[in-house]
Amino acid sequence: MGKMVLLTGGAGYIGSHTCLELLNAGFDVVVADNYSNSSPEALRRVRALTCRNFPVYEIDVSCRAALEEIFKKHEIGAVIHFAGLKAVGESMEKPLAYYRNNLDSTLSLLECMKAQGVNKLVFSSSATVYADSEVEKKTEDLPTGCINPYGWTKYMIEQILRDVAAVEPDWSVALLRYFNPVGAHESGCIGEDPSGIPNNLMPRVLQNARGLLPVLGVFGDDYPTHDGTCVRDYIHVVDLAKGHVAALEYLKKHRGCEAINLGTGVGYSVLDILNSFERANGVSLNYEIQGRRPGDAAACYADPGKAAALLGWKAEKSLDDMCRDAWRWQCYNPEGYASGIEAWYKAQDTESEEKDLEEK
Ligand code: NAD
Ligand code: UFG
Repeated sequence: MGKMVLLTGGAGYIGSHTCLELLNAGFDVVVADNYSNSSPEALRRVRALTCRNFPVYEIDVSCRAALEEIFKKHEIGAVIHFAGLKAVGESMEKPLAYYRNNLDSTLSLLECMKAQGVNKLVFSSSATVYADSEVEKKTEDLPTGCINPYGWTKYMIEQILRDVAAVEPDWSVALLRYFNPVGAHESGCIGEDPSGIPNNLMPRVLQNARGLLPVLGVFGDDYPTHDGTCVRDYIHVVDLAKGHVAALEYLKKHRGCEAINLGTGVGYSVLDILNSFERANGVSLNYEIQGRRPGDAAACYADPGKAAALLGWKAEKSLDDMCRDAWRWQCYNPEGYASGIEAWYKAQDTESEEKDLEEK
């Protein structure tokens, strides 16, 4: 058996989709997660979809002794470090909790990797590290700087990793700067299951479509964009997951530390998203224009050229795919993972019965 890939935070939204793509690509994986923002059900479903089993450990990645057990038990060849707290608003209310969790978990992981001689790492960074600037299309060499504690944790961890790679010539590190991940696996079996009231656009669109959020606020229509609403680079989570598979292949052959954008390179406005969602799913949304949300940049999208050149990767799915797959996940699992896998099986059965009837 080849060496395994350790996924910290592998039960989360992006981690679970990446776990599935890695298994399908023939990698062996092991997951470490404390379920602070996820459910073990996500990984049960990854097992069901891939018909493959893999070890999962419920640990806090900040606990070095618990991590070391995993490294001793399994032959780890590379790590993808997803684990972290990620809500921007919450990070402004609880900065210490964010710095403690995101930095501690990274430091204990790095110490453990160094002690065990594991030197390949993919880190979940974010487009949020780009300093607010007039430049809308982000290339990796643009200046960085943040405006909230969550962003600063990503910025600091990037710096820590550059410093480590500079003195450890055998290390290979990819700082993947994600733009705006949305959508779900096309099976509708795994997806984003936010706890509490979601802040991001797509989960709020889903809530509005279900009638749980009576009015969806569009935050500002007086930005200098094609329709006045903010422009972002939305990327299908399955495309994003495949970017991690490509990054692992790249790390096998290259040393050093590289920041790489994972985005489509195309910016869509808030109204583009709402229109696409309504069209792709045949549902209507109830929204109104509200005031600007503090801290929002008018437009931000990736230059995906470096990912294409280094990883041979580019996003393939359309905005309609993102909207359709997000809605399918929501319809098949009205309460997210709490719905239980039976709800998903039932939705599958209903869909195939409907298809049979249409064909007859
Ligand atoms: P998520 O919350 O769904 O996944 C993170 C996972 O890490 C969760 O399963 C959580 O339980 C786990 N975790 C957190 N702290 C931990 C700890 N100390 N020990 C063990 N497990 C821990 O988030 P996601 O959307 O899948 O994001 C994954 C990574 O990508 C995060 O680092 C996030 O900051 C980053 N990122 C996400 C986005 C986005 O919009 N979703 C954008 C840019 C970057
Ligand atoms: N928006 C609305 N109404 C809503 C929610 C959002 O109009 O109810 C708008 C926002 O104003 C913004 C756009 O939709 O213009 C996207 O907002 P999100 O909150 O979904 O995403 P952001 O681009 O603000 O932030 C995301 C992640 C951050 C990450 C950042 C990096 O949430 O974690 O991308 O680019 F840091």
